[in-house]
Formats: sequence, structure tokens, C-alpha cells
Amino acid sequence: MPATVVVGAQWGDEGKGKIVDLLAQTSDLVCRYQGGPNAGHTIVVDGETWKLRQMPSGVVSGTTSVIGAGCVVDPEVFVSEVDLLAERGIDPAVVVLSGNAHLIMPWHVTIDQASERRLGKLQIGTTRRGIGPAYADKASRIGIRVQDVLDAKILRQKIEVALAEKNLWLERVYEAEGFDLEEIWARFAGYAERLAPFVGDTSLLVDEALRDGKRVLFEGAQATMLDLDHGTYPFVTSSNPIASGAPTGIGIGPTRIDRVLGVAKAYVTRVGEGPFPSEIEGPLQARLRDLGGEFGTVTGRQRRCGWLDLVALRYAVRVNGITSLAMTKLDVLSEFAELPVCVRYRSRDGSETPHFPAHQSDFHHATPVWELLEGWREPLEEATTLAELPPAARAYVEFVSQELGVPIELVGVGASRERVLA
Ligand code: GDP
Ligand code: IMO
Ligand code: MG
Repeated sequence: MPATVVVGAQWGDEGKGKIVDLLAQTSDLVCRYQGGPNAGHTIVVDGETWKLRQMPSGVVSGTTSVIGAGCVVDPEVFVSEVDLLAERGIDPAVVVLSGNAHLIMPWHVTIDQASERRLGKLQIGTTRRGIGPAYADKASRIGIRVQDVLDAKILRQKIEVALAEKNLWLERVYEAEGFDLEEIWARFAGYAERLAPFVGDTSLLVDEALRDGKRVLFEGAQATMLDLDHGTYPFVTSSNPIASGAPTGIGIGPTRIDRVLGVAKAYVTRVGEGPFPSEIEGPLQARLRDLGGEFGTVTGRQRRCGWLDLVALRYAVRVNGITSLAMTKLDVLSEFAELPVCVRYRSRDGSETPHFPAHQSDFHHATPVWELLEGWREPLEEATTLAELPPAARAYVEFVSQELGVPIELVGVGASRERVLA
């Protein structure tokens, strides 16, 4: 099975980085296909913690790592992570960056911040890293791509075109200060030297690797419920994290994907605004947050915590074509005597459904129908195989697998690379 997509099955922060890092040990290539430095992937190896925002998680093990055309790149973050790799003894030459990826420009960050402020109570709760505005400019065809930096003349022209519009917006709509063409041009032309060594034909590279029978991982950032088309719009990110985003974002055909591994926590978290039916009410939410260390990697915000939502997961299985699941952070649930799991949603008219609502207002009004599973009340530190888990923990995993009709291939019982049971 050479081509595997690893996709977040919930609202992000499922532990994708950790799972990708583990699978990277037996892979030849790891490819990020969308998103940018809004991602925060934490990887713990040999007591050392990595927090990656822009780079694919394969870099930690020195595996060749592609940043595909579907990504947006903040050159400052990219360069700082290149330096981090070098500092930690990993040759940054493992990174290959698509020239078609779009750049996050300083005005994208300013607009992201200003538009969130403007939305006030209706804000999305973005990471304020310029993601939405960068993807919007890509769609409007006034974006600036990595390859533009490599030609100073073209770069100047593109910045000039973009600024003619952006400065008007900034000054007149957001009452913010505009940007100076010469200053931005000089700064970004300066990145050419740092970016050029990494730029390559990533579509060709991945195609050739697949033809040679190499094992290729596609790493999604964000997650299914944050997908621009199929997530909980407008409380989503501006790209397509779902599995079909992988061939689009990399530049290969959909027939090349062999399997889709969904990553889901044993419970759910969400950062930012938007409806969240299985969100825990009362002090247990803070308890779960503390036990799971649920604070954002990028923004430091508290993550909202909820019990496992099988309606949302069933939907993730559908829209991604998930062939198996990795369930992470099972160890975090060890203290609870009872574990509510949301098996269906109850609609406003009192009817119950196992399917994710197709319309936003139905989702807003959905309330969870719970099934109470038994907790195990003992730490999972000792277990080295699934068979060694306490019976109630095994039953929890089996219940989820049966409800979804998908095998659970990996179970995470700790943050470090080796704490995954297969
Ligand atoms: P990602 O964005 O999907 O890569 O996930 P994050 O890295 O943002 O958040 C997951 C957090 O949980 C990180 O701090 C991981 O180190 C940690 N983690 C991952 N898997 C496990 C697990 O099985 N058990 C525990 N206790 N922590 C885990
Ligand atoms: P990883 O890859 C969790 C959320 C933000 C906000 C919404 C839009 O670590 O799982 P954006 O800045 O993308 O325009 O914000 O999406 N969000 C994430 N939540 N994990 C992430 O990444 C996220 N990336 C974006 O909180 O609600
Ligand atoms: Mg994260």
C-alpha cells in the first residue's frame, strides 16, 4: 500500500503529527498538501518535543518532505523551521517546496486580524496567520507564489498589482496602515536566496516515487470538520484538508491513493468559534482539558473539549473514504468512571439521526443522544499491545470501530512516538 493519506477526522489537533511521524519511520516521502502555519503539529521523540507549523512531520526523522502546491507558505516561518532543523542536526535538504504554493504576504496577516476584529461577536476565531486572505487572493488570481520570489522583476510587478488593491482596502475599509512597495519588495526578494535551494517540481517528484513503488504519506493539516467545502462553514479554514485534497494539492491523480487513515482523538476538541454538539457542560470540560493538555500549539488558546461524537466521525468516514482509523489520547480518558459517547443527533422536531445534518441551522440545533460506556479507571502506561489494555478500554475502541464500520488500526496511549499500540 504505497500511498496513504493521513487525515484529521474531527476539528483538528487529533495527533496527526505524531501518527505521521510514526508512519514516516517506514515511508520514503511525506507530503503536506494544504494549509499553512495555522497548523501546529507536536511530535515527541526521545524526550525531545518538536512543534512544527509549516513543515511536514516527516522532517523530524529526516524523511524527504514535500510542501505541495495546495499549501500556503509564510516565508518567515519556513525559514525559521529550516534553521530549527539545522540546529537539531537534520539536513534541511530533505525539504522540497512547490513553486506553485502561494505566499502569505504581510497584508494577509493584517487583513485576517482586522476582519476578525470587525466581525466582533461573529468572528471565526482564526489563528490570525493570514490563511483565509492568502487563499482568497489565490482564488482571485492576485496571489504571489513561491516561484515569483525567484524572479525579482516579476516579484515587484506582482507586489505592485496586489498592493494597488490591498492598500486601498487596508486604508479605507479597515482603517489600517498600507504597505510600502519598495520595502516589501526588498524584504521578499531577500527571501529568494533562502527559498531557492528548496524549490522543486513536487508533482513530478511524487509521481516518480509512486512509479518506483516507494511508500508515500500525505499529511493533512487541520481536519475534516474545518474543510472549506464539507466542514462546518463558515467556521472552517480556507483549504481542503479532506483526503481528496491530497491529490489536488500535490498534483497527482486520485487513482494513485491506496488508503486513507483517519486520525481521531478518543474525545473531541475544537479551537475557535462554531457549533460543537458534544461539547462538555460543566467542570468536567476543564478537567478533560487539563488531563489532555488541550491548549493550542499556534495560539496558546484553550481548546474546547467534548465527548466523542460518532455522528461527526461517521461523516468523516464518508467524506474522506476512510479505510482505517488511528485513535489517539485514549490514555487521557483513564480517570473517568463513565464515558458518554454521542451516537446520534436529536433534531428540533425530536427525531434522531445517525447522519451529519446537511444544513447549518439543523446542525446548530442538534443535541447529542448519548450512550454511556464504562470507564477503566486505571492508567494505560503498562500496555504494550492492544490485548493488554483493560477490558473496558478495549470495549471502548471496539464500540467505536463497530459503530463506524471501520477498523481501528492504531491506538495512542501517550505523547511519545512509541506510545502507539498497533
Ligand atoms: P495535530 O495538530 O493533529 O498534529 O495535533 P497536535 O500536535 O496539535 O495536538 C495533539 C497533542 O496531543 C500533542 O500535544 C501531542 O503530543 C499529544 N498526543 C498525541 N497523541 C497522544 C496520545 O495518544 N496520548 C497523549 N496523552 N497525548 C498525545
Ligand atoms: P492542526 O493542523 C485546530 C481553526 C481555527 C479557526 C479556523 C479557521 O494543528 O490540526 P484559520 O487560521 O485556518 O483561518 O482558522 O480553523 N484551525 C485549527 N484548529 N487545529 C488546526 O491545525 C487548525 N488550523 C486552523 O482555530 O477556528
Ligand atoms: Mg495541531
